Amino acid sequence: MLWGRAGATMFVSGVRSFLGHSGCLIPWIQSTANREFSTNTAGSKLHGKVALITGAASGLGKVAAATFIANGAKVVIADIDSRLGQETADQLGPHARFTPCNVVKELDVSNAVDFTVSELGHLDIMFNNAGIPCKTPSSIADLDLARFDQVMATNVRGMVAGIKHASRVMIPNKTGSILCTASVTGVLGGMSQHTYSISKCAVIGLVRSVSSELCRHGIRINSISPFVVPTRLVMNEMKEIYAGAEIGRIIDIINHAGVLEGTSCEAVDIANAALYLASDDAKYVSGQNLVIDGGFTAFKSLNFPQP
Ligand SMILES: NC(=O)c1ccc[n+]([C@@H]2O[C@H](COP(=O)([O-])OP(=O)(O)OC[C@H]3O[C@@H](n4cnc5c(N)ncnc54)[C@H](O)[C@@H]3O)[C@@H](O)[C@H]2O)c1
Repeated sequence: MLWGRAGATMFVSGVRSFLGHSGCLIPWIQSTANREFSTNTAGSKLHGKVALITGAASGLGKVAAATFIANGAKVVIADIDSRLGQETADQLGPHARFTPCNVVKELDVSNAVDFTVSELGHLDIMFNNAGIPCKTPSSIADLDLARFDQVMATNVRGMVAGIKHASRVMIPNKTGSILCTASVTGVLGGMSQHTYSISKCAVIGLVRSVSSELCRHGIRINSISPFVVPTRLVMNEMKEIYAGAEIGRIIDIINHAGVLEGTSCEAVDIANAALYLASDDAKYVSGQNLVIDGGFTAFKSLNFPQP
């Protein structure tokens, strides 16, 4: 999703081949996810809470699910990938459930919310996280509007559906926390292809709009904007750009794309942000976009020559 540094056409896009679960990245991603589970801080910040997370079969959603469970929540994983979703729920243990859900279909989203309430009694946290990249030419002049519609259907409409149906069950209870995964590419232009960037701008905007209504019902809604993390989605795109490159080299490129020295953005950093926003620690935080980028989008340096 991010523009790389190695050339003007360097754009992280496309997802299909790797999402088909073929190829050698899977073991790496699984081991990374497991490592990230082990670095989560266990606690009780979400004791007794019930969360529904879309796109939680893998990547950022999966690590968030593990973090929520480690903090006392029960979690429903809603994902279009039934095999991986069930596998993830089994891996996360008795406090995880899986329900199949394509967020493009409003009925699926509605059913996922109803499943959560009927299985676990209530819905406290709705985490709209499912998202896809775009694979379109980088110039606006060549934009593929059919692909644009598909990306918007998942990344924006899917989140609107999640907010709508979570609100349906949260409003009567006068409480709840809704989260949406946006992106640094929705904060700054030029970091990704237009389609993806526009979809993530819209997520930040829709959170602001809906917060104006939900505050009257005691419901908080916020977005999280991650920097680049080497999930399946990103690795798949990077593999296309750096065709033939070793996985280790690609990960190294990603891990050195930021500005904060000595560290890099990991899925657990996003999960900890979600944990904060979902918990009562953030009880007076709503309508915000929490950017997790080590300062990347906070500044630009003047390009003066050396004195
Ligand atoms: N990884 C990053 O660097 C990064 C940065 C910024 C934002 N994001 C966003 O984070 C979110 C999670 O992405 P990730 O990096 O973990 O990728 P990922 O591919 O590992 O996870 C995405 C999950 O969403 C599921 N999914 C896709 N389409 C769906 C649909 N229509 N309905 C339900 N589930 C669907 C996939 O099956 C997958 O399990 C996305 O919204 C993405 O745009 C990722």
